[in-house]
Amino acid sequence: MKHFFLAMWVLVAPGQLWAETGYAAWLRYATLDATVRKHYEALPANAVALGDSLVIKKAQAELVRGVHGMLGRTLRAESRFPNESAIVLGTFASLKPLVPAADFPPLVGEDAFVLKAVTLKGFPCLLVSARNDRGVLYGVFALLSKIARQESIAALDEVQQPAARIRWVNQWDNLNGSIERGYAGRSVFFENGRVRANLTRAADYARLLASVGINGCTINNVNADPRILQSDFLPQLARVAEAFRPWGIALSISVDLSSPKVIGGLETFDPLDARVGEWWRVKAEEIYRQIPDFGGFVVKADSEGRLGPSSYGRTHADAASVVARALAPHDGVVFYRAFVYNHHLDWRDPKNDRAKAAYDNFHPLDGEFEDNAIVQIKNGPIDFQVREPASPLFAGLNRTNEAIELQITQEYTGQQRHLCFLPSMWKEVLDFDLHADGENMPVKDLAAGRPFHRPLGGFVGVANVGMDANWLGHPLAMANLYGFGRLAWSPDLSAGEIAEDWTRLTFGNDPVVVRTIVSMLLASWHIYESYTGPLGAGTLTDILGSHYGPGIESAERNGWGQWHRADQEGIGMDRTVATGTGFTAQYPAPVAELYESLDTCPDELLLFFHHVSYTHLLHSGKTVIQHIYDSHYEGAERAEELARQWSGLKGRIDAERYGAVLARLEYQAGHAIVWRDAVCDWFCRMSGIADARGRVGHYPDRIEAEAMRLQGYVPFDVVPPENASGGKAIECPGVLPCAATFRFERAAGAYELDVQYFDQNNGSSRFRVDVDNRLVDQWVANDSLPATKPDGDSSTRRRITGLTLRPGDMIRIEGIPDGQERAPLDYVEIRKQDDP
Ligand code: GCU
Repeated sequence: MKHFFLAMWVLVAPGQLWAETGYAAWLRYATLDATVRKHYEALPANAVALGDSLVIKKAQAELVRGVHGMLGRTLRAESRFPNESAIVLGTFASLKPLVPAADFPPLVGEDAFVLKAVTLKGFPCLLVSARNDRGVLYGVFALLSKIARQESIAALDEVQQPAARIRWVNQWDNLNGSIERGYAGRSVFFENGRVRANLTRAADYARLLASVGINGCTINNVNADPRILQSDFLPQLARVAEAFRPWGIALSISVDLSSPKVIGGLETFDPLDARVGEWWRVKAEEIYRQIPDFGGFVVKADSEGRLGPSSYGRTHADAASVVARALAPHDGVVFYRAFVYNHHLDWRDPKNDRAKAAYDNFHPLDGEFEDNAIVQIKNGPIDFQVREPASPLFAGLNRTNEAIELQITQEYTGQQRHLCFLPSMWKEVLDFDLHADGENMPVKDLAAGRPFHRPLGGFVGVANVGMDANWLGHPLAMANLYGFGRLAWSPDLSAGEIAEDWTRLTFGNDPVVVRTIVSMLLASWHIYESYTGPLGAGTLTDILGSHYGPGIESAERNGWGQWHRADQEGIGMDRTVATGTGFTAQYPAPVAELYESLDTCPDELLLFFHHVSYTHLLHSGKTVIQHIYDSHYEGAERAEELARQWSGLKGRIDAERYGAVLARLEYQAGHAIVWRDAVCDWFCRMSGIADARGRVGHYPDRIEAEAMRLQGYVPFDVVPPENASGGKAIECPGVLPCAATFRFERAAGAYELDVQYFDQNNGSSRFRVDVDNRLVDQWVANDSLPATKPDGDSSTRRRITGLTLRPGDMIRIEGIPDGQERAPLDYVEIRKQDDP
């Protein structure tokens, strides 16, 4: 008996400490504490689904599943009203015979839903109802979310309306199964040039998307492979549509504008050529025959090497229209991306400016797009940098549908190895008042098409989930996918509300867990910004390669136009009308004035709009250069703090997710120092101005590897030099082990030792650390960082704690090379550990 009780207790214990992979994401339906479950005792025992559409059936099954998981009760699934208390799911039409019309609020639009406690035939019931099936499904997810977050569902009476019709995600998956800018494994859709045989993951993904109100998914790379439109591929796409359909997710695909020529056999893809129009029309018919609820196309043209209408001297409106007209009879839409720019800009011309490209290309075409075409605009004028102003194009299209494109996958924001909660950043853009045609025109309303009464509009998120069990790589990165969905539905939510809801659903309701994770999430974007991209200069990353680690000069002296113009004197892009590129003039007057003037331009965007000297005083009272130093030091310290905060949750969440997150946070804290040192070192050398606080270039606890006694190891120059301490590191050529040794000279005591080494993805070197011939640690360098050489992407650290050291101790690091990875080492840092 005793054992029986114990087992029961473990099953219903709050927090559920057994292992979880993160696959369930925010739909865990973890069993609630017995006292909490009591509050839901009045929940009816029946789940009635009126109607037999796939979506309604899924809604019913989800309700049964969720209630079973959380409350331990099995609802009876009925298809007719059972003349007893019930949760009733159905569209308004299907409920008509049962529910008096007066019980439905009059203005409930597409996808919106009603949750309402009512009395039906004398029985207390809970109504989950909507104009369409999808709305009912959303209502069920909302109800389950309330229970999971322990909200009361007694006397429910609410309507939830989405802010916009378009709430889509894009996946940048290639047909070979890789994902452009994906950081969580292979594609859930494609493998070896075909759609996967097993689409379980695709269906589970659709369920996750539906649970936050997303209603469309484009499954292939915007750099589209024309083969996707070939006739033999369409039945494969139909299988994906089938996996999506029960979840109300419309399938869409990215297409290449040259398809009529490349796969259609025409000699042209000129959008104004009648044969081309006919080709798109016939192709659309062919698709809709197989996928009647197909969503439409996404088009990237005349951008980063893609072909487009410029080949024939045509406009983007011409190109969008030929596709839009083909889709219109089937209610399909085309998303035409505004991410169009010349990546061969002459960097020597101070008037050139990539930021101007989207507006310059699309504003003149306002009003020339079809009603089922949507111009898809990235949040900022450059490319998903850690901080950008809102794109002026949102205010530059009044007679054209638009959608905002946000990037969930953390291409420039730490690639899911660093924690960066993006709703904080998105909110700044969504809430920003662009003053289009008067006051109070925040981007969120413009994107949704409200102010100018556009028929379509909304939100697109580039998600790039992959086959990794936890979907996005970093367990906490799923807060970004969740947050995107929530914001697309209700952009008025605060980042804090989203963070809290997500945390409760993902990790449970323990107040310590909720408080800690919410505070970490809310701090994380600013922390990442502090050590990677100061004052709006852009993410100072390697823009020519991985977009990951530091690469300060990679932005300059090339045609990509991500220039920050840092030189000996100063830094920043002068985008003013008075002396610069004139970009500010693309904004409505009040915003243009705000940015044009040094006095009013906010510090955090200063270098986006102005070129200033390093000694320029910020509104904060600091000089620009001191701000760069201070923010990088502060950012790295706060990254370390994130790991500390997380370790306070040990035992409060399951060990698997606890460990996975801790490992990433510890890595991040180390990599934040790589960033800090690279950026500070570079600016110190460039400006010749020392850090007023004496930190930059002085590392009293550090012993450079090249200064140690080397056996077999050889020093080499790291390129660029700021990506290694002192610009140098050591490597072990050949196949035999090498060693680097140094003598510990400080006072006896407890110390921790950080070994800074390089972990490339083309080998798995091994390291061993001995203190006076005593092995204290060993590890294999087999992380998968985006680097094949020792640099700012591969630099990483191993922390060895609890070492007791005495003066004279010999510390020896042995490196065993593997493949092309030559056990490279940068330095060792030894810090006194506080007495316990
Ligand atoms: C970024 C990204 C590319 C992507 C492009 C786009 O530049 O690095 O991989 O193709 O955006 O949005 O089209």
